[in-house]
Amino acid sequence: MYDVAVLGSGIAGLSCAIHAARSGASVVVVTKGRLSMSATRYAQGGVAAALAAGDSPELHAADTLAAGAGLCDPEAVAVLVREGPERVRELETLGAVFDRIDGDLAFAREGGHSLARVVHAGGDATGAEIERTLAAGLPAGIEVREGWFSFDLLLRAGRCTGASVGPPEGGVVTLEARHTVLATGGAGQLYAVTTNPAVSTGDGIAMAWRAGAAVADVEFMQFHPTALHHPTMPRPLLSEALRGDGAVLRDEQGRAFMVDEHPMADLAPRDVVARAITRRLVERGLDHVWLDATAIDDLPRRFPTIWAASRAAGYDPTTDWLPVAPAAHYLSGGVCTDLDGATTLPGLWACGEVACSGVHGANRLASNSLLDGLVFAPRVAAAIAAGKEGPDPTGVLRDVARLGGEGSPGPGPAATLRREALQRAMTTRAGVLRDRDSLGEAWDALGGDDPQLAPTPTEAAAAELVNLTQVGRLLVAAARRREESRGTHNRLDFPEPDDAWRGRIVHLRGQPDRFVPLDAAAAGRPGAHLPTGDPLVAGEGRP
Ligand code: SIN
Repeated sequence: MYDVAVLGSGIAGLSCAIHAARSGASVVVVTKGRLSMSATRYAQGGVAAALAAGDSPELHAADTLAAGAGLCDPEAVAVLVREGPERVRELETLGAVFDRIDGDLAFAREGGHSLARVVHAGGDATGAEIERTLAAGLPAGIEVREGWFSFDLLLRAGRCTGASVGPPEGGVVTLEARHTVLATGGAGQLYAVTTNPAVSTGDGIAMAWRAGAAVADVEFMQFHPTALHHPTMPRPLLSEALRGDGAVLRDEQGRAFMVDEHPMADLAPRDVVARAITRRLVERGLDHVWLDATAIDDLPRRFPTIWAASRAAGYDPTTDWLPVAPAAHYLSGGVCTDLDGATTLPGLWACGEVACSGVHGANRLASNSLLDGLVFAPRVAAAIAAGKEGPDPTGVLRDVARLGGEGSPGPGPAATLRREALQRAMTTRAGVLRDRDSLGEAWDALGGDDPQLAPTPTEAAAAELVNLTQVGRLLVAAARRREESRGTHNRLDFPEPDDAWRGRIVHLRGQPDRFVPLDAAAAGRPGAHLPTGDPLVAGEGRP
């Protein structure tokens, strides 16, 4: 029996493991790939943190809240922006080398940020540097199981007591732990075109949902506007930092179109840019627009990863415009947590992309994802060390905790699709732009109202497909229900945000999905969102 089992080995998983081990806990890290295979490694832009002269946590919070389109939890955002700078410095102490100019940290600007605040490493290889640093910083006592797949959470007397896991050679064994931390990342593999690695199959969300934990905000899949339009998968990312350094999006006639779309033009929040591009692709029958980065000084040195990927695809970004199109990139929702990463299921914690703490709302601000892992993973470790046993009504759980977290574990939908068929249905029917008909078709493709039921398979690839199917069903169910456009959820049939939908769609196994309105007056006041009436009644039906 371990004190802490961490499932996943990206920035959140490794940060949590390091902090938990430092507090004296026995820790095992279970990762289905190699230690370095997470989405963290692919992150280019960097870590947003208020470290620059003239910046402040308040300015960072204001940008985060604006990008989140009314669905951020202000208290969660306050934690993120206040603790972020200290966590970045801690990474440096651990050995991460961030780019500097004349000895001072260098800051990039990205979409939605009112100033340059993104620290980066190796030009555009920030994730790789952080992953390297954390893997090297793992204390000797931590057990690491590489190539081990996590199938399901173990439950005893209403508590999570570990996970059923499988070694690389096959089979399933139980891994008992007093505390289990989901740090399994996102679900970009729901889509045929994604910047996420093949391991991003929504495993943690599906496991948590099967075990009866609350899941929310999964209709908010963020699409990165500028993935290189090229058959390589994952799609090579062309960081927003390019636009921060002066790159410009151009349509098929060479027109710089973002000036017509938003006061921040090419540096508008990511959802605005992805929507503007996709509208043009659909209306004009195009498969890409262009990113003109030819005006950037010294691009090969400042963006070596992008330079190499572009050259490998046959482009010279110093002279050629680069073909780009949106690609699935980051799931803003996930397993509901309080501000310490506690879920609605005692003994189960979540941090990083798998979690929904309220920091991202309907659209994550650029380069807030590495920061999210860096800030909230140590909070999980600290809360466990302090003996915390269950969630508080903070973060997203301020709104949803009282829905009750005890669903009925049991069989889930079977994998009736091949991964490619699922990805095709999600991409064409539940992508950047959606409507009632397209989402209905996606729903039918994912099993419809009467999905075939089967236990989780005991073979990793089949289990991944079940996980993708389940997360896809949650995403599509919420997207069908949310009859408005907000953040990264764009309904062609409901093109405007609607205040009545300012709330979360919460999924609990064995119960109908619930809409939980947010209390606008409660911004930033701990506990003030707690419903006064019966939340099951208050939250039901169309708002
Ligand atoms: C980018 O560099 O554009 C991606 C950074 C992020 O997803 O936050």
